Amino acid sequence: MTSRLPEGAPSWRGWIADHALCEPPALDGEGRFDRAAWLAELGTADALVCLLGDRVDAEVLAAAPRLRVVANYAVGYDNVDVAAATARGVVVANTPDVLTEATADFTWALLLACARRLGEGERLVRDGAWHGWTPTLLLGAELAGATLGIVGLGRIGRAVARRAAAFGMAVIAADTRGVPADVDGVRGCTLDELWARADVISLHCPLTPATRGLIDAATLGRMRPGAIVINTARGGCIDEAALADALHAGRLGGAGLDVFAAEPAIHPRLLTAPRTILAPHLGSATTRTRVAMAELCISAVRDVLAGREPANQVRVRA
Ligand code: GLV
Ligand code: GLV
Repeated sequence: MTSRLPEGAPSWRGWIADHALCEPPALDGEGRFDRAAWLAELGTADALVCLLGDRVDAEVLAAAPRLRVVANYAVGYDNVDVAAATARGVVVANTPDVLTEATADFTWALLLACARRLGEGERLVRDGAWHGWTPTLLLGAELAGATLGIVGLGRIGRAVARRAAAFGMAVIAADTRGVPADVDGVRGCTLDELWARADVISLHCPLTPATRGLIDAATLGRMRPGAIVINTARGGCIDEAALADALHAGRLGGAGLDVFAAEPAIHPRLLTAPRTILAPHLGSATTRTRVAMAELCISAVRDVLAGREPANQVRVRA
């Protein structure tokens, strides 16, 4: 299958739908997604390709009695009620692997931008407020010799850890499910140790009941003064009000956030927080990765409709 991105500002929904050889779902007059119309259309659907902002819950599944497969155009699938789908015999698939390197790159883009205060510097230049080189302008943190703490040592966490070697950082990793085994220069540790020791903390865990609000006032209070927090996982893993408080109080060295609890809405105190880089959920946003994700969704739909198990079937978490 050839895949080509449309020119200009594409309708991603339509683009994915074209690639999945099905009708784009209902949009309102302004091109926004219309859930009520969507539910009505699902009555005749055999397959659903959905985005991470689409909540596929019991209501959606009940509206789609013919549905056999939900292909989520994302690796994270907290938006899909997998248990409810499984109970109805609906297969759920996601798009792992193809976005690992792109997301790890973007994590480092945020990390470097925070450590070296690139957002503030860019604004200074554009505002005409830069008056020349001085020894103390926008001093940041040096990475060599610092410790990177990775929460969730899965595919993306490991890809982020690999890049750390090039920057001379030590890497520790923790998980809500237990201490990860030491691998490839990464030392497994408890979450308590990670909060206390890491100079940079980067989240690479799925959003689950165990990880919701994992970074909150209590865990922020245990972090080193000047620690940097990076999140390319899910916004719900952080209590955003507590993070904003810590940033405004100057306790952290910065935060690089690509995901938000109620995106596209941003917590208002994060918008004004110092040393904070905010990105519009771009982790996997390279052309190659987004095309590969679409192709995985299409393959999953084709496999299930042909009676085969898809390569990336998601199952209810243990
Ligand atoms: C993006 O956030 C994804 O889960 O693929
Ligand atoms: C900075 O630009 C330097 O030359 O040290």
